[in-house]
Amino acid sequence: MKKLIDKNFPYFLHGADYNPEQWKNYDGIWDQDMSLMKKANCNEMTVGIFSWSDIEKEEGKFDFSVLDEIIDKVYKNGGKVVLATPSGARPHWLADKYPEVLRVNENGVKMHFGRRHNHCYTSPVYREKVRIINTELAKRYGNHPAVIAWHISNEYGGMCYCDKCQQAFRDFLKKKYDNDINKLNEAYWSAFWSHTYDNFDQIEAPMNIGEKSIHGLNLDWRRFVTHQTIDFMNVEIKALRDAGSSKPVTTNMMQGYYELDYNEFANHIDVASWDAYPDWHLCENLYVAPLTAFWHDYFRSLKDAPFMLMESAPALVNWKGVNKIKRPNLDVLQSMQAVAHGSDTVQYFQWRKSRGSVEKFHGAVVDHVGNDKTRIFNEVKRTGAILKNISEISGTITKSKVAILYDWNNMWALDDSQGFQKDKKYQHTCVEYYKPLWEKGVSVDIIGPKKDFSKYDLVILPMLYLVDSELKLKIKDYVANGGTVYATYMLGYVNENDLCYLGGFPCEELKEVFGIWNEEIDSLTVQDKTIIKCNDKEYIGKDYSEIIHLQGANALAYYDSEFYKGTPCYTVNHYKKGKAYYQAFRDDGMFKKDALNKILSDLNIDGDIKEEIVGVTSTKRTDGENEYLFVQNYNEEVVENIKLKNKYVSMIDGKEKDVVNLDSYGIDILKRKI
Ligand code: GLA
Ligand code: ZN
Repeated sequence: MKKLIDKNFPYFLHGADYNPEQWKNYDGIWDQDMSLMKKANCNEMTVGIFSWSDIEKEEGKFDFSVLDEIIDKVYKNGGKVVLATPSGARPHWLADKYPEVLRVNENGVKMHFGRRHNHCYTSPVYREKVRIINTELAKRYGNHPAVIAWHISNEYGGMCYCDKCQQAFRDFLKKKYDNDINKLNEAYWSAFWSHTYDNFDQIEAPMNIGEKSIHGLNLDWRRFVTHQTIDFMNVEIKALRDAGSSKPVTTNMMQGYYELDYNEFANHIDVASWDAYPDWHLCENLYVAPLTAFWHDYFRSLKDAPFMLMESAPALVNWKGVNKIKRPNLDVLQSMQAVAHGSDTVQYFQWRKSRGSVEKFHGAVVDHVGNDKTRIFNEVKRTGAILKNISEISGTITKSKVAILYDWNNMWALDDSQGFQKDKKYQHTCVEYYKPLWEKGVSVDIIGPKKDFSKYDLVILPMLYLVDSELKLKIKDYVANGGTVYATYMLGYVNENDLCYLGGFPCEELKEVFGIWNEEIDSLTVQDKTIIKCNDKEYIGKDYSEIIHLQGANALAYYDSEFYKGTPCYTVNHYKKGKAYYQAFRDDGMFKKDALNKILSDLNIDGDIKEEIVGVTSTKRTDGENEYLFVQNYNEEVVENIKLKNKYVSMIDGKEKDVVNLDSYGIDILKRKI
């Protein structure tokens, strides 16, 4: 039942990105790091991320002395190593000798050497140089007992518009459209503005200096960027496997990263990992908390297994508009939030604060003062102590009866659509539907369109504008077989090529499932509000109202303002064995909370706290025999008398309880037999 990163290491990993090469001329500092690592209750270091110029000072000449010593030191001190491949940043000589490894930007300008994460992912030379260094790393450390996992590159991202990438894009399209330019023209609706292609050679990536008006092309380009990035990653992974290392691979991803469809990464990595840098104290913590939880749940759902919190900032970052330090207890709470949602690691960026360059004021476990006396060091130490105490929870899983669909293709198409409102707020809307569930402590999976729906009782489909031929049938089957779906405005407008469905929205199959036809959509200004009437209760609508017609569904709420007053705006359709709810407007939060509460109670889905308290939530994991409940307080104030539905034993203070009191940003972790 247990799904662990490494079966021989059934504990939580607690560690940090570690850049020892920056300190190699500072005597004694590595040993100080080792002793501080133990003091901080850390058991892991992530190394090698930016080590390329240290390992391969000259082309083909390798020097592993730093890594050899550091990996051995960490191991001797009881730690594990997550070893990175260094492709995220290259040495100077590589760019000087082989300029093709440098990216070309969207204005067609060739980039100079500098910064990082800016390689051409198509360049055969870059791929080969990466293959060689990964092979060397894998031969040397691929079976080292300290190495627990591979960290492939660092935060893949961005796009390259060089000739090689453009050609690879054309090849990708030729394959997709069976080398038939008419097929492509049809899919792209390219007769519009006389943009019909005569042949594949005319195709260019959408660029500031060229074509941007063909939505199908824009969508295919984004798909290509994901495809080519994964292809590059697979070259990296293959080198490790060919050199005989079978350690699990991961690549660190980012919150809501727009340019890459992370759903496509799932089948290529062994473990999901991500870098979480929430905006605590910068905007409402009571929004930041569910937003971060949403992404934890996303990365857990990606592999349906525990994930790794690969990076998080102790105290503060250095790249936000205002870089506020975290209030006491919040470092521990943010780490435990990740664990509560399924992480088997708590890792930081970075171990020791750099002395120079752009990250010298970014939070780290060890500050410039260089000792264990700081508030932050001691919060990290406390997190480590808790992780040791609760190590039996590592590898346990999360069971969710509710899922929210989150799809990049949909987001890209929505954002490309010119009309409605400029800012479509897709991500925000998905989180808005997640928030009431988080407040109740109901577990949610955040899933891509290719995931199996059948294990869920409820699937929420916020703003599902793009529905491809597979997905519409999947939704239909799911409801026909007894599932409940809850969809919102903008359902099923376009197909996989971003062409509008004819015959009225949503597409035919979904009209049948939802029992409605959507005739028009009204976009409202910020001043405009609509009134919604539902069972004599009034709600506020904003931003969007669709004018829909019943075709078999029952109306549960009506507009009570505007010229569409009296028309239905919230409906349910009984389709075969299941139910399909449709909300035709955007609300200010109250409506969806009440609607979800009703649907959840009909489905018998509930959380574990008796009465909801603002800013307090609970999340659970299980090993099949025990349930582990994480009760979390995101308020700056102390909260007392949190009544639980069951009796537990606290793994924090050892007491038996069904009532919990929490400090400012406090947490309790409780256990019971099920
Ligand atoms: C990213 C990178 C790290 C570091 C942090 C700073 O997550 O992967 O190398 O730059 O940002 O927040
Ligand atoms: Zn390129």
